[in-house]
Amino acid sequence: MVKSIGFKKIKVAVFISGKGSNLRNLISHSFKSNSRFIISLVVSNKLNAKGLYYTKKYKINKKVISFRKRKFAEKKVLSEVKKNKIKIICLAGFMKILSKNFIKNFKGKILNIHPSLLPKYKGLNTHQRAINNKEKFSGCTVHLVNSKLDSGKIILKKKVRIYKNDTALSLSKKILRQEHILYPKAIVKFLTNP
Ligand code: GRF
Repeated sequence: MVKSIGFKKIKVAVFISGKGSNLRNLISHSFKSNSRFIISLVVSNKLNAKGLYYTKKYKINKKVISFRKRKFAEKKVLSEVKKNKIKIICLAGFMKILSKNFIKNFKGKILNIHPSLLPKYKGLNTHQRAINNKEKFSGCTVHLVNSKLDSGKIILKKKVRIYKNDTALSLSKKILRQEHILYPKAIVKFLTNP
């Protein structure tokens, strides 16, 4: 009989604010038998974030907290993260900026996915800006979070062609499909070679 060698999956928290398609995708990736990670906690700053549905569906711990008082919220989130023995935080459409202090507490272990080919088009409205500038390519980037917006070390990027008839909506759909492939890959790469 061949004995399978078990390995412990890394506990990941995903922070969301919206529809959570990246969250859903990371959860299904984590269910694969050879997955290196498990989604143990979901944090949302919005009570009505659609992505929270997946915490119910898959029975994942969640913490919903308004970030209006950021210092207070971050203290609560950090204690939840520690309680759940989280090793990596993945931001996936999380629309709040984390404080320097929070990032310091979790230094080098917070990842984000951004819908552009960083360092181009940091911030919001990336697809329309790329189209307006007549770019031939856009794409998505997974990077480490540091105290500057969308500026940490890049882990992986994926290019997507922009065609003449593309709109911000069509481009966002194409890029989102690539995000779903890129994020799990980037996490595995990060875990292998942090
Ligand atoms: C994605 O495009 C991601 O790159 C950006 O926010 C969007 C989140 O989408 N940061 P979803 O909530 O994961 O569907």
